[in-house]
Amino acid sequence: MSILWRHARLATMDGARPWGWIEDGALLTEGERIAWVGADADLPATLTAAQEIDLQGALMTPGLIDAHTHLVYGGDRAAEFERRLQGASYEEIAKAGGGIRSTVTATRAASDDQLFVAAAKRAHALIAEGVTTIEIKSGYGLAEDHEARCLGVARRLGRELPVTVRTTSLAAHALPPEYAGRPDDYIDAACAWLPGQHARGLVDAVDAFCDTIGFTPAQTRRIFDTAKRLGLPVKLHAEQLSNQHGASLAAEYGALSCDHLEHLDAPGIDAMRAAGTVAMLLPGAYYFLRETRLPPIEALRAAGVPIAIATDHNPGSSPVLSLLLMLNMACTLFRMTPEEAFAGVTVHAARALGLSDRGRLAPGQRADLAVWDVGHPRELAYRFGVNPCRQRIFAGQTT
Ligand code: NIG
Ligand code: FE
Repeated sequence: MSILWRHARLATMDGARPWGWIEDGALLTEGERIAWVGADADLPATLTAAQEIDLQGALMTPGLIDAHTHLVYGGDRAAEFERRLQGASYEEIAKAGGGIRSTVTATRAASDDQLFVAAAKRAHALIAEGVTTIEIKSGYGLAEDHEARCLGVARRLGRELPVTVRTTSLAAHALPPEYAGRPDDYIDAACAWLPGQHARGLVDAVDAFCDTIGFTPAQTRRIFDTAKRLGLPVKLHAEQLSNQHGASLAAEYGALSCDHLEHLDAPGIDAMRAAGTVAMLLPGAYYFLRETRLPPIEALRAAGVPIAIATDHNPGSSPVLSLLLMLNMACTLFRMTPEEAFAGVTVHAARALGLSDRGRLAPGQRADLAVWDVGHPRELAYRFGVNPCRQRIFAGQTT
C-alpha cells in the first residue's frame, strides 16, 4: 500500500540544511519503506499513490529511537529513592547489596507474563511519544535462565507491539549474590551463556557496566572478547561514576556506543572518534542521581563524535519514560542545541544501534514516522509534560 503525505513541514535529519528542513514537503511511502521525499512543488506528475493525506503544515519527522533502556524488570526502587533523599548515595546503596541487586531479586521472582505486562506498559508510554525503535538490555536476571527470560520478554515486545526492539545482553551489570567475592568466576559464567543466547536469536549486541560498582576493564575485556568471537557488536556503560578508561577499551573493539560518559577524558574522546563510536548521553540518570560533573559535550562536539540521547529507563538511576523530556534535559542540563538533541534521538541513535535503515527521512529508509502538532521541531525540546505526537507511522502503517 502506498501513501502520499502532502504539505508537511519535514525535519528529514538528512542532507546539509539545518534539520534537513523542507518547508512545504511531501513524502511517499511504499509498503514499509520511504519511496520519495522532497518539496511538494517538486512532486513528479507521474507519481501515484493509493491514498493521499494532506497534513496541512503539520511537522513530520523520523520516528524516534530510544537506544538505551533497561525496560524489562520486576519491582521498583521508590524506597531507595527515599533513602537517597535522606543522604545515602547510589554507590553506598549498591555496595550494601541494594541497588541493581534488589531489582534482580524482584525480577527473578516475577513470571514471564508479569515481566511482559510491566514492560509493555513502559514501552507504550514511549511509543505514545512517537518512538518506533527501542533498545532493551537484560541485566536484572544475572543467572543464565533469568537473563534468557528477560531477553525473551524483550523479543516478545518486538513481536507484539508496533515497535522495533533491539536486544542487548548485559549480564555484566552487577555481581549476583551467588558469586559474592568471585567476580571473575561470574564473568566466566556470563561469557559461557552468550553463545547459547546468541544461538537462540536473543542478542543483537553485548554491553557491560565498567565501574567501581560494576566490573573492571580486564573483566569487561573478557566479555568483549567473547562477543567478538560470536560476531556481536559491543557497547559499554563507561565513565559514569568514575574514569576506568572504559571508552578507550570499548573503542578498541569498535564499540557502537559508549554510554553515560560524565568522567570521559581526552584520550577516550580521541579513541571514540577514531573508532566511529557514538557518545550516548543519558540526561535522565545525570538528573536523577543529581550528578554535578557534566559529560565533556564541548570536546565531543569539537572532535565530531556523534552524540545520541536516550532515556536509560531503569528503576534505579533513571525511572523516566519520556524521550521528549530527555530532549529538554539534553538542552537545559547539557547545553546541547535542540537540533543536536533531536539528531541524538534519530540519526545518531540509529547509528548507536548499528542501524542504517532508519533515523532519517530519505528514499529507502524504513517508513517509521511521527507527525506532531507543533510548527517547528525545536518545540519538541522546549515544552515538557505535554505530548504533541498526533500520529505515528510504523513500517508504513498508521498505529
Ligand atoms: O544505566 N549504570 C548501570 N546501570 C544502570 C542503572 C541500573 C540500576 O540502577 O538499576 C544505568 O544507570
Ligand atoms: Fe543504562
